Amino acid sequence: MPYFDNAATSHPKPEITWKAMEHYLKQVGCNPGRGGYAGSIEAGRIVFAARERLKALFNAPSEKQVIFTPNVTYALNFAIKGLLSPGDHVILSSMEHNSVVRPLRFMEKHYGVKLSIVPCDRAGRLDPEDVRRALRENTKLVVLTHASNVTGTILPVAEVAAVLRESEAFFVLDTAQTAGVLDIDFQALGLDFLAFTGHKALYGPPGTGGFVISERAAERLVPFVQGGTGSKSDLGEQPDFLPDKFEAGTANTVGIAGLGAGIQFVTATGLEKIREHEQNLTRLFLAGIEGIPGVRVYGPEQMDERVATVSLTLDGADLGEVAARLDAEYGIMVRSGLHCSPLAHKTIGTFPAGTLRFSFGYFNTEEEVLTAVEALQALAREY
Ligand code: ALA
Repeated sequence: MPYFDNAATSHPKPEITWKAMEHYLKQVGCNPGRGGYAGSIEAGRIVFAARERLKALFNAPSEKQVIFTPNVTYALNFAIKGLLSPGDHVILSSMEHNSVVRPLRFMEKHYGVKLSIVPCDRAGRLDPEDVRRALRENTKLVVLTHASNVTGTILPVAEVAAVLRESEAFFVLDTAQTAGVLDIDFQALGLDFLAFTGHKALYGPPGTGGFVISERAAERLVPFVQGGTGSKSDLGEQPDFLPDKFEAGTANTVGIAGLGAGIQFVTATGLEKIREHEQNLTRLFLAGIEGIPGVRVYGPEQMDERVATVSLTLDGADLGEVAARLDAEYGIMVRSGLHCSPLAHKTIGTFPAGTLRFSFGYFNTEEEVLTAVEALQALAREY
């Protein structure tokens, strides 16, 4: 059953991921940072190990600057709601996901935040000079996806980071589609906020994610969640040190155990090897579907400008129906429609019908990809 929806969540997960979760639930089971007994200390060690692995993966300045949240959407909401004040200006690209667009629209409506949406081209590419031109004196945030979940287009993050060196704006990067595939150096890029998800290319379970935050952003950011931290319990107010300032309530320890193991898998396998395999699959798929009558492919042609996500349309076909037929007749799982990114679909000209999206992961094989090519050839003949 070829699964080509790794942009939604990776599947399957490596054995090490679910073994770590099983170990936590069966052998540990206690609440981290909430007791002086062995089980609580061991749970704390598991959480700390995951934090350390994330610090190393992203080259974060310290493990304290790695914060866990239930998912990347919560992380992005933390940045957007916690860093903006009424009247602030924000720059985003026209390839953003609703996890960025919706909280920003909320802030626009309720707090008078001003938005500049920098248009990307029909392949989803961003010109960093357009970001420079959009900057204003009161630009507080620049929020970009590292790669589009619709077209796989990689945005020029290093070039935008260079542009932003002349500005006080906080740079927020959504790495939902790139963490675990591309090398991301938080310090070298001068990022302020790197939002990540655990359940995609980091091979952790759903319900995991978080952010890495710079010192200046951490000082400024007002958390929208307060509660128990297991520290400074005599205080009526949230502690102001990291990570406790941004982590309230019992952690998703079983999820974090799985995430920590998923990162171990990624690190042991190597980002380069993962990227190379996914690029090979993407290249094979694109070559196979090239020339199928009625098939249009979106996104950049250059392989180094994209991750392993391919959006296409089939002339004359209802793509929801095609996705259902791929599932029912070929056992192929893909996602059709707008992928929670209507703005990106408007940019590439596929709104409101959307696209059929194939997104490959490390566990996909060439044989599976060729099955998808044959299925598309057969379906294209019918439509
Ligand atoms: N945002 C995820 C996707 O692209 C869920 O499918």
